Amino acid sequence: MSNHASEVIRGERFEFGANWRRFLDSLTPERVAKAERSLSEMLGWEDLRGKRFLDVGSGSGLFSLAAYRLGARVHSFDFDPQSVACTSSLRGKFSANDDRWQVEVGSALDATFLGRLGSFDVVYAWGVLHHTGDMWRALANMVSLVAPGGRLFLAIYNHQPLWTPPITLLKRIYVASPRPVKFVLAAGSMAFHATGGFVKDLLRFKNPLSRYRNYDRLRGMSWWHDQLDWVGGYPFETATPEEITSFYEQRGFRVERLALCRPGSSGCNQFVFLKEPADG
Ligand SMILES: C[S@@+](CC[C@H](N)C(=O)[O-])C[C@H]1O[C@@H](n2cnc3c(N)ncnc32)[C@H](O)[C@@H]1O
Repeated sequence: MSNHASEVIRGERFEFGANWRRFLDSLTPERVAKAERSLSEMLGWEDLRGKRFLDVGSGSGLFSLAAYRLGARVHSFDFDPQSVACTSSLRGKFSANDDRWQVEVGSALDATFLGRLGSFDVVYAWGVLHHTGDMWRALANMVSLVAPGGRLFLAIYNHQPLWTPPITLLKRIYVASPRPVKFVLAAGSMAFHATGGFVKDLLRFKNPLSRYRNYDRLRGMSWWHDQLDWVGGYPFETATPEEITSFYEQRGFRVERLALCRPGSSGCNQFVFLKEPADG
């Protein structure tokens, strides 16, 4: 049995891939276009022609597809076989299994596996390394994957001293629970977030439904699937923006772009780092 399967059976890991499989049913050309735009805007490149792109923890495969359509040579991997199946199905559907796009099972914690991948112009690990079970080791493993002059694009959950411990406990309980309890926890969490959003929008005189209609505006994702990912996404770790930036500054990177979540939010901070070229 794979490490992934035994962690799921022991109630220590969320099955991200099963959630991604359901998300792919709702994938539209508009969502793919939004994913492409979010990638090129954050990276500051109009297209990725001639670039080598590594998608670490590719999930649904949407961002591998976006990078492929922007012209990159793409290598995708994920620890969850169902995520790999999702990414492979997008590769089959949209690239006719072109060898400019490779997909495989692998772990961001497996130094031997990573060592044979080589280096890349873009390493993309969006919402992944905090779910590995050893975030700081996974963050360190990204360093040698980025070619000099290349970019590292990360999203990492924001640390909140008050909220991180109970949120971690909620996710831990979710993954260890039988299906009916999971259902109650997911419904409760969605109701909590939906009610909070509704009240905030009313107080700001905004239409409370527009946040759901426009949810996919930024990355092409869906509110429903992101909510499930949020309540169940375990293993789970967090970091402050300062911890992440100083970690990479000490390892020869500099910040190119930051998109920080609202203070006090339990969302992700996004970082694009540039690895200093070899000659300084
Ligand atoms: C929240 S999803 C993000 C997916 C995708 N990067 C995106 O932006 O939509 C996290 C993904 O990380 C994967 N993952 C967790 N641990 C991993 C590891 N050690 N190595 C590679 N992928 C991992 C999960 O299987 C899941 O598909």
